[in-house]
Amino acid sequence: MLLKLEEISKSFGNREDATERIVLKELSFEMDEGESVAILGPSGSGKTTLLNIIGSLDYPDSGTVTFRDRRINDLAEQELDHFRNRQIGFVFQFHHLLPQCTLLENVLIPTLMIRDKGARSGSVNRAEQLLKRVGIWEHRDKLPGRMSGGECQRAALVRAMINEPALLLADEPTGALDGENLEILTGLLLDLNRNDGLTLLVVTHSQELAARMQKTFTLRNGKLERNG
Ligand SMILES: Nc1ncnc2c1ncn2[C@@H]1O[C@H](COP(=O)(O)OP(=O)(O)O)[C@@H](O)[C@H]1O
Ligand SMILES: [Mg+2]
Repeated sequence: MLLKLEEISKSFGNREDATERIVLKELSFEMDEGESVAILGPSGSGKTTLLNIIGSLDYPDSGTVTFRDRRINDLAEQELDHFRNRQIGFVFQFHHLLPQCTLLENVLIPTLMIRDKGARSGSVNRAEQLLKRVGIWEHRDKLPGRMSGGECQRAALVRAMINEPALLLADEPTGALDGENLEILTGLLLDLNRNDGLTLLVVTHSQELAARMQKTFTLRNGKLERNG
């Protein structure tokens, strides 16, 4: 088991002034190493909130998140930063590359947070391998503003993979891409899952992308329901 969520609940707002909105309600979910899962669900159903809790960017009100037998809820701030930086990769709908840095500089940014020199030493080589693999190595010295949205999203994927995470959380990763670029990014995600054993959790509105994951779930009424 890579990831286990037990009875996760999360609300926003206040009960007192009737602004409370229950987003996740005793949600339980498990993922094995190497699995690929798509999460569907209407806008506002809590998909991003769920990914944020899994990636320790947000806290549940109650319930536990366990990652490889460690309870994430119990980690101190510094351990949490380490966990997030080393075990989890994030890809969002928009690439969020720094406009003043080249593609190569952008993808190396997460390696700067690693203090262990040994762990960091291979990162330039790794950036080269990954940038070649996604087809943008020749553009490494260009600024994001000179690249297409699809190419920038591929750089964002490399940045997410640079510290060799066990789990990739992708929040509508193809939401801003057209047909051809959607196809390229989907292919890259599947390649990383199948050939590198990357565990993949993808929130998407794309039926095409969802259909290529091993399992799909829909987030409804605060819980994940398995489809099919
Ligand atoms: N930080 C926040 N403060 C208040 N409400 C929030 C916050 N984040 C999300 N919400 C609310 O929680 C609900 C679920 O949001 P979200 O997880 O972004 O849904 P989805 O990603 O499925 O569109 C929405 O009603 C949203 O307005
Ligand atoms: Mg969202």
